[in-house]
This record gives sequence, C-alpha cells and structure tokens, in this order.
Amino acid sequence: MKITVFGIGYVGLVQAAVLAEVGHDVMCIDVDESKVSNLKSGIIPIYEPGLTPLVQQNYASGRLQFTTDAKAGVEHGELLFIAVGTPPDEDGSADLKYVLAVAETVATHMQSHKIVINKSTVPVGTADKVKAKLSATLTQLGKTDTFDVVSNPEFLKEGAAVNDCMRPDRIILGTDNPKAESKLRELYAPFNRNHDKVIAMDIRSAELTKYAANCMLATKISFMNEIANLAELFGADVENVRRGIGSDPRIGYQFIYPGCGYGGSCFPKDVQALIRSADGVGYAARVLEAVEAVNYAQKEKLFEYIMRHFDGDIRGKTVALWGLSFKPNTDDMREAPSRVLLEKLWVAGVTVQAYDPEAMEETQRIYGSRDDLKLMGTKESALAGADFLVICTEWQAFRAPDFELIKQSLSEPVVFDGRNLYEPQRMLEYGLHYYAIGRGLSV
Ligand code: UGA
Repeated sequence: MKITVFGIGYVGLVQAAVLAEVGHDVMCIDVDESKVSNLKSGIIPIYEPGLTPLVQQNYASGRLQFTTDAKAGVEHGELLFIAVGTPPDEDGSADLKYVLAVAETVATHMQSHKIVINKSTVPVGTADKVKAKLSATLTQLGKTDTFDVVSNPEFLKEGAAVNDCMRPDRIILGTDNPKAESKLRELYAPFNRNHDKVIAMDIRSAELTKYAANCMLATKISFMNEIANLAELFGADVENVRRGIGSDPRIGYQFIYPGCGYGGSCFPKDVQALIRSADGVGYAARVLEAVEAVNYAQKEKLFEYIMRHFDGDIRGKTVALWGLSFKPNTDDMREAPSRVLLEKLWVAGVTVQAYDPEAMEETQRIYGSRDDLKLMGTKESALAGADFLVICTEWQAFRAPDFELIKQSLSEPVVFDGRNLYEPQRMLEYGLHYYAIGRGLSV
C-alpha cells in the first residue's frame, strides 16, 4: 500500500520504517530540510536500538523515502499519517497547530479520496477539528474531494520502539466508516501474527484510550512512589512491598518500580494535557492532579536526601552523577529527573561530574559549557575526585559496578540511588552509606 507519513519525529520515523519493512511503500515528509538530508545519508536523528539499520535498508530498497515536498507526499499516499508533535502550550494543553497545518496541506494538494490517520497523541475531539480543517480548506479552494479521518494512537516506548511497533500489544482504530476501517486492517495485517491485534472503536474512544493508557501507567508509578515515601516513614522496605503486591496478577509487576520520578516526552505531557482537557469540560481530574503533584515532589527526592545527609552544607562539593537520560536505552533528556537534580545542585554550589552511555551530547546541547558541569567519558572517571555518587538512570552498565573502586574514589563513602539498583546489605558490607528510594534513609 502507498503510505505517507507527515512528521519524522520518534513516532513518525519508527512507524514509517516498520511499515516499509513489511513491504509498504512509504514516503516521509518533514519541514526540516537538514533532517531530511541527514536521513537520506543514513544519519538517524535519535538513538533507538535497531532503528538505524531498519531505516538504512528500507531507504536503500526504495520502500522508504524522505522529502520536504508536501505536495508529492499528498499525491503519493492513499493513507496519510499525521505524526507531528503536539507540544504542551503554556497551560499544559496539547498544541494542535502542527496537526492542523498538516490537515490544511492535505486538503490543499489532494486530488483523490484520502484516509487521514492521526498518530500523534491528541486530545479527544481532535479528529473533529482535523475534519473541520480539511472541509473548510476544500470548500475555500472550491474542491469536492472526499476524505476519512481515523484515530490510530501509537503505544511505542522509547528504547524499545522498533520492537513495540513490530510486535504491538494492540492496534487501536477509531473510525466512523467501515471502509476506512477495512483499509487500515489491511495495512496492519502483517502485524497480526498470533492473533488479531486490532481493536476497532469510535473515534473519541480511540483518542481517549491513548491518554488513559499513559495516565494509568503514570498513576501506577506515582502510587508506588507514594508507598515508597510511606515505607521510609514507617521503617518498611518498598522493594519487599513491590514484590508482595506485584505477585497479585490484578496488580502485576510492571510499572510499579519506585524511583526519582517519571520523565520523558509522554507521561508528564499527557497527564497534564488530560487534566487540562478535563478542565475544559468542567471536570476536576483529582487523581491525575495528585499523580502529577507526587511526581513533581519525587523528582526533588534525591536532592532532599543529599541535603539531609550533609546537613545542608554542600557548597563547593563535587558529585559523580551516573545517568542523565530519562530512562535507559535512549539519549532523551526531556523532563528527565536528572535535570531537576542538576539544576538544584548547581544552585547549591556543587560541581557535577556526569556520565551517561548515550545522553552526553544531548546534555551538552541543553546546558552548553559551564564550569560546574564536567561530562566524563566513563562511569569510573566520573568518580575520580568526587565527594559522593548519585544515580538517576538504571542503565545496565550501572547494575554491577566495582564497589571497591566507588569507595576508594569518593571522599565520602555515600551513594544516593534514585533507581534502587543495589542491595542495602551489600552496600553496608562494602562500607558505603546507601540511600535508596523507600528503603530506609541510610544504612
Ligand atoms: C510511554 C509509554 O510507556 C508508551 O506505551 C507510550 O507509547 C509512550 O509513553 C508515548 O506516549 O509515546 P516512554 O515515555 O518511552 O513510553 O517510557 P516508559 O518506559 O513508559 O517510562 C516513562 C518513565 O517512567 C521513565 O522516566 C521511567 O523511568 C519511569 N518509570 C517507569 C518508573 O519510574 N517506574 C516504573 O515502574 C516504570
């Protein structure tokens, strides 16, 4: 099938590459000329395991094309995906200007029936706005072409995006036209390996499904972080509690890992956007407001432990910081808990020696050169000459470090762990003070 994807961001690029891989003929459109020319030369704008060869091979085979030519894109695809960004505007609502701009472009150039598919995470009611934009533009231009609008939200996780897209748990299709639904079923047929993954429904339910999924996951995390905070105060160990409750299949083990808060481009933005949308229909989303508030406070947790340990006297110290990305296997720093910590440490007069396996360049891009930030080439060199160690991201490479080296390198034998990577008893044996989330303040 002939597909066009508008927006070569995370979702657009991965989706396009995966659709090309199963044999569809995919054209990607973006306004960013340098991104397009980089992709043509095999340079992928994001770090995502497995994505580079997938893009390069499919580009070489001609099944995946990149261009800035929107007119060519509209002509090419029978199915047109909108996968542009929906950044939060000032009050946290999703900003639809890029989505609606694509709708206008489509209406301007279309010469035949098109199925317009919303992949971007968009508030409930957006499909209606896209339809209205398409209709208004067509009328303005005196055109009589017809179209369908479908909601088909994406559920991929950064760091596992290719696999999530290749082997989706579910494919949500929100349509009001059986013909469009049948086209989309045909498009996704290669992904129904073991059973039919398609769950078809009305458009508004599909739009809400996306927000409900992310908000549910964010709720699990904030809930668990609250239990971790209580465990600390009660003298319990949240890791035992986690194992204890996860064993109930109604609760499950996933997304109940306590930590220094959730980050990324999705949970913070989507929780906020649903709160704003709820507000717009006169409903106070109290659970979601609490989820957000708990997460905000949780991102300050490591700094609080540090201040408590050093009695507020940290000016002039040097910290080794392991992990900058918002989670492992990505270089993405958007809303990363490390950023809240970095910025608080700098205000307090601390120099940071940071190491991350992938996010060093991104850190440099965000913060530029500054005397109180040293980007180190290895986790070991980050320790050299540091006073204490903080961990913000659970990269595999941090799971079994040389504890002797940690102890010898630090002037104070203390580790603040925002991801609960180590056993407190083991740390005690190594002679290291250890602060973890919800496991007792220090052992
Ligand atoms: C999330 C969802 O998991 C995807 O299903 C969804 O498609 C995506 O948002 C999106 O809307 O595009 P992502 O943001 O890539 O994916 O990352 P997650 O793996 O969900 O992690 C989000 C944050 O939660 C990370 O900061 C992670 O450290 C934190 N987290 C996760 C915890 O603190 N505890 C957990 O138990 C799990």
